[in-house]
Amino acid sequence: MPFVTTKKMLQDAQDGHYAVGAFNVENMEMVMAVIEAAEEMNAPVIMQTTPSTVKYAGLDYYLANVKAAAERADIPVALHLDHGSSYGLAMQALRTGYTSIMIDGSHEGFEDNVVLTKAVVDACRPSGIPVEAELGKVGGKEDDLDGGDGDGYTDPNQAKEFVERTGASSLAVAIGTAHGLYKGEPKLEQERLSNIRQVVSVPLVLHGASGVPDEAVREAIRRGICKVNYATELRIAYSNGIKEVLKTDPDIIDPKKYGAIGKKYVKTFVMEKIRNCGCVNKG
Ligand code: 13P
Repeated sequence: MPFVTTKKMLQDAQDGHYAVGAFNVENMEMVMAVIEAAEEMNAPVIMQTTPSTVKYAGLDYYLANVKAAAERADIPVALHLDHGSSYGLAMQALRTGYTSIMIDGSHEGFEDNVVLTKAVVDACRPSGIPVEAELGKVGGKEDDLDGGDGDGYTDPNQAKEFVERTGASSLAVAIGTAHGLYKGEPKLEQERLSNIRQVVSVPLVLHGASGVPDEAVREAIRRGICKVNYATELRIAYSNGIKEVLKTDPDIIDPKKYGAIGKKYVKTFVMEKIRNCGCVNKG
């Protein structure tokens, strides 16, 4: 079916107390893997690209890839700009046809984050494209940006004011997750999440889900998370598949042959996470 925005998708998730999986894709095989997994599970799905991914091939390349996948499938698919790093990039994604945009002003002070986010929200409103914003600092390294040690957790009262002033459609919260893998087991501040949920009505987003135990993700969904972002573990799955093939058959030269194994590993991972998000048969 044609692309959808994340607006209704996340509203339905919020009403139904589940989350939609958002998966970072880098190449065609990853797009194919995500769409196959979502179709088999009859689940809505979000594919997303970061600024460095976009820099690699261009917004139009990823749009064409994901659009082709979406149109062949019978489930709702949205294409989201993850961690939009500037007003300019957000506008490029909007013009290219992305159906969901994140503007990440979390590296700015509160007031500058409000101004930047509101500018993107105002520009996207006429086209009906929803905007995800971030308040607080998710730690670790995401894309080219270092989020630091992630001790700037989202303050519930600030979150309320932030959403009211910016009109953001959804909010990424910092509750103890970090991008990339964890050294130990991450400790999520679930109580903080509940406190944010009480005062903020828009869907909440969990970043940095790679390496977070499934049970902790389910608990976060019970407390109000409606979108869960996975990137690092997809990269690992894809690369592990390819490494394995090249190890057993170092003379292989057909990219389709090793790409297919990378794809299979990603698909298995995505199916697991869709199940954990509770969005099977919500397509
Ligand atoms: P991970 O790389 O930790 O899965 O984080 C993904 C993410 O939050 C993308 O925005």
